[in-house]
Amino acid sequence: MPVPLIDLTRQYQAIKPEIDAAIARVFGHGGFILGGEVKNFEAAIAERCGVAEAVGVASGSDALLLTMRALGIGPGDEVIMPTFTFFATASAVTRLGATPVFCDINAADYNLDSQSVAAAISRNTKAIIAVELYGQMPDMVALRALTFEHGLYLVEDAAQALGGSYERRPAGTCGDAGCFSFFPTKNLGAAGDGGMVVTDDPQLAETVRLLRAHGAKPKYYHQVVGYNSRLDALQAAILLAKLPHLDEWSKGRRQHAAAYDRALAGVGDLILPSQSAGARHIYHQYTVATRQRDALRQYLTAAKIGSEIYYPRPLHLQECFAAFGGRVGDCPVAEEAAATVLSLPIFPEMTQGEQAEVIDCIKRFYQEN
Ligand SMILES: Cc1ncc(COP(=O)(O)O)c(C=O)c1O
Repeated sequence: MPVPLIDLTRQYQAIKPEIDAAIARVFGHGGFILGGEVKNFEAAIAERCGVAEAVGVASGSDALLLTMRALGIGPGDEVIMPTFTFFATASAVTRLGATPVFCDINAADYNLDSQSVAAAISRNTKAIIAVELYGQMPDMVALRALTFEHGLYLVEDAAQALGGSYERRPAGTCGDAGCFSFFPTKNLGAAGDGGMVVTDDPQLAETVRLLRAHGAKPKYYHQVVGYNSRLDALQAAILLAKLPHLDEWSKGRRQHAAAYDRALAGVGDLILPSQSAGARHIYHQYTVATRQRDALRQYLTAAKIGSEIYYPRPLHLQECFAAFGGRVGDCPVAEEAAATVLSLPIFPEMTQGEQAEVIDCIKRFYQEN
């Protein structure tokens, strides 16, 4: 039986009347840009996260870009971030002419290692971006302490972590701002691109609002050169319809993760994901690590089982960032992760039969290899 890495059609089928009604509502009133749909969704996310402000933008990438720009990050500034993350974490910084400082991660949670962060802080450091990889938050207490000590901003790249928490604080709310992505495969996914900035700082929120609409206030009077980066009303309406299901979907992911944990413990050389103290992992990805990663992936592919490598090359070794001087060996834990991680199918609607197929296939691989 083929098992997809993710199947978005099942979620739609499960809540089709709610999605269809949301789409019909938007076509009915014809307000496609901002307006009540976006406001209502922003209010729902703000309430869910327990923050004062939420600003819908065009994507998670733009949530990061607009946040960094609103914080005044620019040429000469350094921003510390993990090297093991999606590209957009860094491009939000380099597009503003600032310098990304790539730090190593912990082997246990694949997130920023606070000791390498501490060692990387210089007089030019302005901010730390804490990425919540695979749906698990890093040690926010240690990172927050560093930002307080050195007078830095803390921005959460919570693109993968909506619904996760750290010591009961929701993802996105432990720093100065949190950035979410609603890319279709995310835990709360739109029917296209979408993103959100959450913050308790009204000034920061106001600047992001200004930047998302060409820097104009009032309309056609431009205070700064901004962007066209609004969250579509259609996406907001769809996301608002989906939001009440998020907790139940997260529960489903956590149940699948627990089933993988039980079945794959001790199999071959597999390293299973670990939940760090204080963090509630919502398993945007269920990511294992093995020295036989490429062979295991080929074996799964031959059995028509989806898998993916997030991410095969750390950012300090990306060609486009060569000017920042990264070398092989700079971030050994991240480099090892890039060579060994493999994400397995996990989505709320995955059936027990499908999961058993994945597990059996992995066990067969290790019997044969
Ligand atoms: C960690 C991380 N940061 C940023 C992004 C960018 O989000 P988007 O694809 O919505 O631009 C993503 C998702 O793709 C992500 O996983």
